[in-house]
Amino acid sequence: MNDVHAAVESRVRDALARETNPTRALESAVGLLRAGVPHYDWVGVYLLDGNELVLGPFAGRSSPHTRIPLGRGICGAAACEQATIVVDDVTTDTRYLACSPDTRSEIVVPIMRDGTVLGEIDVDSDQRAAFGPRDQVLLEEIARLLAEKL
Ligand code: SME
Repeated sequence: MNDVHAAVESRVRDALARETNPTRALESAVGLLRAGVPHYDWVGVYLLDGNELVLGPFAGRSSPHTRIPLGRGICGAAACEQATIVVDDVTTDTRYLACSPDTRSEIVVPIMRDGTVLGEIDVDSDQRAAFGPRDQVLLEEIARLLAEKL
């Protein structure tokens, strides 16, 4: 990770270490990620509720997708596959559910505990192919930290 990613990971780790309330833990992580990495234009958390992903805390433009059925969108695909999905160009991915016309790329990282999906972190960028290995490592670590708080 470069300095930006390392600094954000450290800030989130510090904030979560003293947070016992699950909603506030999610709000802190979302806010610190959005503020700390310039190409993170929208950051949100979806939580699994039955067969739907329900939008929780987010930072950025409001999204029309407040409930996403499993299997729909990039979000639903990542939950079903229990794996991170990176889309370099959302205009070429037929699964993509548009949140903003300005979004160009997206990364979705499942939040898992004991092999079960609890939710996921979704990050959109207005830059094409904005997300690389450093973003994936950072967000997968934050997802692990959040799983301990849910
Ligand atoms: N793009 C997501 C939907 C959520 S919005 O980006 C906030 C998807 O395709 O699942």
